[in-house]
Amino acid sequence: MRPLSFRRKLAVHVSRVERDDVPTLAQIHADAFPHAWDEDAMTSLLNGNGVAALAARPHGDGGRAPVGFVVYRSVSEEAEILTIATAAGRRRRGVGRALMEHCIRALQADRVERLILEVGATNHKALDLYRSLGFKPISRRRGYYRPPVQDAAAHRHDALVLQLDLD
Ligand SMILES: CC(C)(COP(=O)(O)OP(=O)(O)OC[C@H]1O[C@@H](n2cnc3c(N)ncnc32)[C@H](O)[C@@H]1OP(=O)(O)O)[C@@H](O)C(=O)NCCC(=O)NCCS
Repeated sequence: MRPLSFRRKLAVHVSRVERDDVPTLAQIHADAFPHAWDEDAMTSLLNGNGVAALAARPHGDGGRAPVGFVVYRSVSEEAEILTIATAAGRRRRGVGRALMEHCIRALQADRVERLILEVGATNHKALDLYRSLGFKPISRRRGYYRPPVQDAAAHRHDALVLQLDLD
């Protein structure tokens, strides 16, 4: 019998985000972060200068709807992850890793030299993912994240800035 912790990888293909994906991406984002972006905010992010976005879509379940996405911006030799999220019911099944690996390969193909991102110092799931890909911390922004409005008594959290050399 398989152990209870067994998690089956979700087979996905990763492709560019399309305009039709925006409502799904806004929903995934709202479920993932305390400060939600609505569809307009998501659209304006995706239309930003140098911004690209990838969506992970499951194979063979009859739909193309994304189950995760990553948004990044490249400026000259540097790129930054602006956001990444996997739909709440599909986490820990390889989607986030697939998105990051595609993003890294696309940036390497474009000869981008380094990729940076910012992550909550207590976001251990995301930190594990980034460390396993080779990201290293380069700075800490103290009290960078404000708590959600409904949790106003909570403390501000530090952010870590991580970097991956791409060459
Ligand atoms: C962070 C996030 C994108 C990871 O996506 P995911 O699809 O669950 O990630 P994966 O299944 O590909 O897991 C990749 C690695 O992340 C780490 N990880 C993911 N979930 C974890 C968990 N629950 N506990 C510990 N490590 C975890 C592990 O190192 C894992 O590798 P492994 O499964 O081989 O051990 C997802 O948890 C998420 O959407 N979180 C909310 C939004 C967020 O915090 N985004 C990051 C902001 S910087």
